[in-house]
Amino acid sequence: MMAMSFDVESLFAERMRNVRPSLTRELLKNAGGPGFISFAGGLPNPKFFPTEALITATEAVLREDAASVLQYAVTEGYPPLREWIAARYKQRFGLDIPIEQILITSGSQQGLDLLGKVLLDPGDVVINERPGYQGAIHALSMYQPRFASVTLGDDGLNLDELGHTLRAHAGRAKFIIITPNYQNPTGITYSEARRRAIADMVRRHNVLLVEDDPYSELGFEGESGLPMRAYVEDRVVLLGSFSKIVAPGMRLGWLVAPPEIMQRVVIAKQGVDFHANNFAQRVLHRYLIANPISEHIARIRAGYASQARAMIAALECCLPPDIPFTRPQGGMFIWVTLPESADAMVILKEAVAQKVSFLPGMPFFTDGGGRRYMRLSYSQADEATIEEGISRLARVILQHLDAPATEQFGIRSAMA
Ligand SMILES: Cc1ncc(COP(=O)(O)O)c(C=O)c1O
Repeated sequence: MMAMSFDVESLFAERMRNVRPSLTRELLKNAGGPGFISFAGGLPNPKFFPTEALITATEAVLREDAASVLQYAVTEGYPPLREWIAARYKQRFGLDIPIEQILITSGSQQGLDLLGKVLLDPGDVVINERPGYQGAIHALSMYQPRFASVTLGDDGLNLDELGHTLRAHAGRAKFIIITPNYQNPTGITYSEARRRAIADMVRRHNVLLVEDDPYSELGFEGESGLPMRAYVEDRVVLLGSFSKIVAPGMRLGWLVAPPEIMQRVVIAKQGVDFHANNFAQRVLHRYLIANPISEHIARIRAGYASQARAMIAALECCLPPDIPFTRPQGGMFIWVTLPESADAMVILKEAVAQKVSFLPGMPFFTDGGGRRYMRLSYSQADEATIEEGISRLARVILQHLDAPATEQFGIRSAMA
């Protein structure tokens, strides 16, 4: 008997149509190996992982309390860890956050997914930054929203455009999602005035605001701006993360939400994984209370600040002044705007051949734009490597920009 052919494609849910394999990932498959310099990944630098202190914390919690450390736990997360997070907001900003409003998540990435689950029906509108974090676009796309992207300027979202977008999608816009501190991919920080104005609009248009804030501890000049919750407490969900200040492999972050939203998010999380990794939560908490975390964070800040300065100096030196780039006050990223005609995908291909990489802008746009942009991450390379990598990359860019002119010249001289 002939076996019936098995149509695997017909198995997949409609929502999978919205998420495609990344072209950039394909191009970066060949990236790596000896001498390769990557400015592509948004990875924290492992030199700042507190390995020894985590070994000590792991041993301590296992020896003292293995029966509960290795057991299932409550969905909301380990209460002392939630208290630690609340105390840190109090210490940094004077903000009072009841621990009932804090949920421990498997990284802030899970917070994005949970918000999609509880808030989005297909066709609902999400207002995001243009360019905006590609991981949020990916996570939320699974719930089939329409993205209405608003231009991100030097001080934050463009307010006229935001007002227009909110009016155009009245009743369908579920939330606005922004990263006001050291944004991914641009490194931009929202001004105080812009935060206040956005808070006013959130109140006026009766929408929810999601503040995705994994970088706020990484300010080069001290403290970041106030969390949006300080301006509109009842209409903000705040996502935080231990990835950039301790270690991303622990997959621990948090979500702060008003009670009604928290209740639904907790129900959704129960169906996903019961709770974030309890063992990791306990180790992390022990580490946080047994070590001077502010000093640790200060070292990360200083390290990234120096690496950012090195990248800015190298870009100033190697690129012509008509190629602007951002000068971040914190975080891990610089955003380069190439001339209109440039194609970052083509440049990336050539750059990988020259053993250097970056992320092209397209994944950060929901409307097919972004070809002329590059995201450079300075978190992983030391200053000398950054200098070498930027000089390689600049050569590739300059050749690429010269290429059409050279070809024209070739044609003209052939005709002459
Ligand atoms: C803006 C933004 N949000 C969320 C995340 C997810 O971080 P994690 O899940 O490690 O907390 C990242 C990671 O790079 C990010 O850049």
